[in-house]
Amino acid sequence: MYPLLFRVVLTRFDPEFAHHAAMVVIRVLGVPPFSWVTRAITSPSNEQQVEALGLTFDSPLGVAAGFDKNAVGVRGLAALGFGHVEVGTITAIAQEGNPKPRLFRLVLDRAVINRMGFNNAGADAAARRLEKLRRRRPKTVIGVNIGKSRVVEVEHATADYVASATRLAPLADYLAVNVSSPNTPGLRGLQAVETLAPLLRAVKAAAGSTPLLVKIAPDLPDEEIVAIARLAVSEGLDGIIAHNTTISREGLKTDADTVEAAGAGGLSGAPLRERAMEVLRVVRDAVPSEFCVISVGGVETAADVRERLDAGATLVQGYTAFLYRGPLWARQIDRGLRRGTARA
Ligand SMILES: Cc1cc2nc3c(=O)[nH]c(=O)nc-3n(C[C@H](O)[C@H](O)[C@H](O)COP(=O)(O)O)c2cc1C
Repeated sequence: MYPLLFRVVLTRFDPEFAHHAAMVVIRVLGVPPFSWVTRAITSPSNEQQVEALGLTFDSPLGVAAGFDKNAVGVRGLAALGFGHVEVGTITAIAQEGNPKPRLFRLVLDRAVINRMGFNNAGADAAARRLEKLRRRRPKTVIGVNIGKSRVVEVEHATADYVASATRLAPLADYLAVNVSSPNTPGLRGLQAVETLAPLLRAVKAAAGSTPLLVKIAPDLPDEEIVAIARLAVSEGLDGIIAHNTTISREGLKTDADTVEAAGAGGLSGAPLRERAMEVLRVVRDAVPSEFCVISVGGVETAADVRERLDAGATLVQGYTAFLYRGPLWARQIDRGLRRGTARA
């Protein structure tokens, strides 16, 4: 049903407009009595619970950062059966992001290209929403992903991250430092170990007892991924999120003109699957077995989630497949995992 709706109706709308429309529906699904009905249909079975970061996740599958940038849809996403929602990326200073259009579907590849550029209402606005959420907690883990404000020079990035961490860590179940989006100039340069070490140390001090993770890019050479993984362990972080979107355009089925017309930005969805598996293995080999590794990139089916877990992922996230597969995606994954199986 949803694939038909997607093909016939949703693809006629601008992708960002369709996302906002979906967000309205998701917000409604988070409000009783709609949330009760949604939960009755989609609630994950406790068979798939994961204990990690000192928290209980009802499902190994969570919503990756970027879907709910301002923490407005957490209740609805929880009702749809996701075990965690990583909100953000949130920046200390509110910002509009890049000019539109900035989100493009590559339907043949089950992928999208985005150059949103951290459009978000800023840390103070997010903190107010998170405070409300904590008063009547939804049944999901809430991660908070933070990034650098665009107006802040890269040399002053640490203070900017620390400002967000100080404001948001007390309200988060875990905090993720995003140094891997391709859409903020200079951001990925922060992944160089000499730069990353003092940044992570300062954010860790600001995060206090809130578990801290770092989110990396897939475009780094494997040796640099190993170096970051070891750094994360030695700096006392709690995990790694592997990984963000790629700047590569290799191996796409969509015709080259369409891809080129989309322009710069990060590619996500099915084409990331292979690299995400490689990066997961590289990271897992470089860190202790109890260290949390969240695998993200190209996850579409229960079999994909199972494959990530079998390869050492502690948890799994997805974004693009949620756009293509629709509101029952988390439920399909849960049912597929329960059957112990094949493709959901
Ligand atoms: C439209 C869009 C916006 C995104 N925004 C963010 C973001 O703000 N912060 C972030 O860390 N990742 C962001 N991502 C990356 C996703 O969190 C995820 O790492 C990536 O899409 C790979 O997963 P997927 O193949 O399941 O989509 C975004 C992805 C998309 C498609």
